[in-house]
Amino acid sequence: MNSSNGSLKVVEQTLNQTQEQLFLLLDPSILTNIQKQFQTFSDPKVLEDIKKQLRPIADPHIFADIKKNLRALGDATTRADVLKQLRPISEAFEAIRVEYLGRKGIFAQMFKELGQLAPDKRAKTGQNLNALKKWVSNALEERHNELKALSEASIIAEEKVDLTLPGVYHSLGHLHLLTQVQQEIESIFLHMGFDVATGPEIESEYYNFEALNIPEDHPAREEWDSFYIDDSHLLRPHTSPVQIRVMEQTDPPVRIICPGRCYRRDTQDATHSPVFHQVELLWVEEGLSLANLKYVIEYFVHEFFGAEYEMRLSGDFFPFTEPSVQVHMRSLGSSDWLELGGAGMVDPAVLAKVGYDPEKVTGFAFGFGIERMAMLRYGIDDIRTFLTNDLRFIEQF
Ligand code: DAH
Repeated sequence: MNSSNGSLKVVEQTLNQTQEQLFLLLDPSILTNIQKQFQTFSDPKVLEDIKKQLRPIADPHIFADIKKNLRALGDATTRADVLKQLRPISEAFEAIRVEYLGRKGIFAQMFKELGQLAPDKRAKTGQNLNALKKWVSNALEERHNELKALSEASIIAEEKVDLTLPGVYHSLGHLHLLTQVQQEIESIFLHMGFDVATGPEIESEYYNFEALNIPEDHPAREEWDSFYIDDSHLLRPHTSPVQIRVMEQTDPPVRIICPGRCYRRDTQDATHSPVFHQVELLWVEEGLSLANLKYVIEYFVHEFFGAEYEMRLSGDFFPFTEPSVQVHMRSLGSSDWLELGGAGMVDPAVLAKVGYDPEKVTGFAFGFGIERMAMLRYGIDDIRTFLTNDLRFIEQF
């Protein structure tokens, strides 16, 4: 039995005893007995004897135990139970008040009989009757107030805020890993003096293909053929069209990166997703060479992955770069090279198309997969986990 149950038992016992004692005072034999003794009220001994009989209503301690144990009751429902049990007691007190002090109560009757007493007895008996009535009504009023205080205290105790209870936890969300990675990439390039540019995800064939030196019959269209919205607009399969949009709007020098969502008709597997992210880079200025490209990528790899990584360039082909390279990286000592994406010197035909003079300025560009970089850095082996919204995954980062 825990202490709360123990307290409840004591409270119940005390309440039951009190109730029994109070009911006794309503017994007709007691009432008539008091009335009978009225003739002898001038005798202080008789009065004391009656007060002794009525002690249950005059005991200032009857609620002390209940109060003490009520405090020990931690549980709100048991406290509510106790409050319910207090009701018969207050009803008993009310019944006593009616039987003793009411209009037809024994005191009213005794006062009536006072006139029949011999005058010499009448004064003293009247005085004592009055005193006894006052004593009874004071006692009842005190008990009434105590009962009231007790139920109020119980209610307050129930409503009290328990600071030891565990609080309601509202978990704070955070940025998705892909957003975190994208922001970190942005911050690295912002420090190097690049601006962040954006472009539409629904792209025209012109920006997605023609302007990037991929004419209609070019076999490379297949690779970047994605979901068409209408005859000439598609969900962009790469961020490279943003290069064109920026160059059309700006004179060289141009130094931008462009992170963003891309779409391809790829069948989903551990390394392919029809929705993914790229970060594009473009730098066009006088006198740039592949050496500058290599430096920029190397700097980025060290900033993002750490000094213990190395990168390499190897030959590739893209219609919009000449020469074109593939970018790989690996941790020092590892034998496996992992692909980051494609890069190259911007093809002079592309520069000419946006009105730049390829004789004056040269440029380089790259396009890296953001998921790929996040997977390499955090050891994630399935690209699908980024988008399945499993909190066990998301909350790790
Ligand atoms: N757009 C290419 C792709 O999605 C990647 C790429 C290659 C971007 C070479 C470039 C670049 O800017 O110069 O596969």
